[in-house]
Amino acid sequence: MLKAILRNRVSTLISSIYAETRPTPPEKLVKSIINQLSKSCLPTNNKWNRAVDVGCGSGQATFLLADYFDQVFGFDISETQIDEAKRRNKFNNVTFKVNSGEEIPLEDGSVQLVTVCQALHFFNIEAFLAKVDALLVPGGLFVTLGYYQIPKKLIRVDDPNANLDAIGDLIEATKRIWRDHGFDYIVYTDQLMAKYRNIKLPYDRLCYEDTFDVTLRRPGTYIIDLINSLGPAIKFRDAYPDKHVSLMNKVRQELAVILNTEDLSKVMLEATFEYFIMCFKK
Ligand SMILES: C[S@@+](CC[C@H](N)C(=O)[O-])C[C@H]1O[C@@H](n2cnc3c(N)ncnc32)[C@H](O)[C@@H]1O
Repeated sequence: MLKAILRNRVSTLISSIYAETRPTPPEKLVKSIINQLSKSCLPTNNKWNRAVDVGCGSGQATFLLADYFDQVFGFDISETQIDEAKRRNKFNNVTFKVNSGEEIPLEDGSVQLVTVCQALHFFNIEAFLAKVDALLVPGGLFVTLGYYQIPKKLIRVDDPNANLDAIGDLIEATKRIWRDHGFDYIVYTDQLMAKYRNIKLPYDRLCYEDTFDVTLRRPGTYIIDLINSLGPAIKFRDAYPDKHVSLMNKVRQELAVILNTEDLSKVMLEATFEYFIMCFKK
């Protein structure tokens, strides 16, 4: 019982780290989706009826749809992610619910837009695509977006020419340690690196694709939070609490060497992530 309460507390903690650490799609990306939708599906009174964001996490993409739809639904299989999304929700027309993406409880033909942000690689693709097809109205869009979780560019604000490649190597090395303990993440990262080209999607219906950069300005400690927000971190921490502590101490020490300071919070970094986006039209 105590273990279950503690585990829940830890995953709630991870959900809030996740919410603070991960990027949010930029406004121009959302506008580009809306622009595509207006080409194939007419709004009523300047708004569409329904959008659904699946694998919504703590609402990173869900909230951005609120201005364009009468109703926006965010579904996620994780209770702690949905709790965090509800805590952050300031919109009357946005509803979050714990639900698997393959069994969304809405009427067929009632949705103009389905988005999946950084989550498609977790789904049963065949069952999910069948559900999306049933939900969408003719001309409706299914949009999948994602980003590789290691920043494509990392710079030190006070020394923009410093080479920080060693930080990317450090994150990759941490992922390899998780993998050696049975928590493999490689299949997902491969899919993200390939921008989902290696997932069986209805490419004959692809109507638009693009990429968008997002830059976050954060202190050096951000790298530790980013590592802790990655999928296997919580599993490794649960299974090997002592090893997790020593691994994170090692990461902190190596960061101190790379950034040449014991106080990581004093160094400001700029981390740029690249979102890719693919739109499929029903
Ligand atoms: C990497 S997070 C992405 C969260 C958010 N969309 C974002 O952009 O940051 C992936 C999310 O997918 C959820 N997920 C995994 N499998 C799922 C499924 N079968 N149905 C619904 N959600 C699922 C996880 O709980 C997690 O919150």
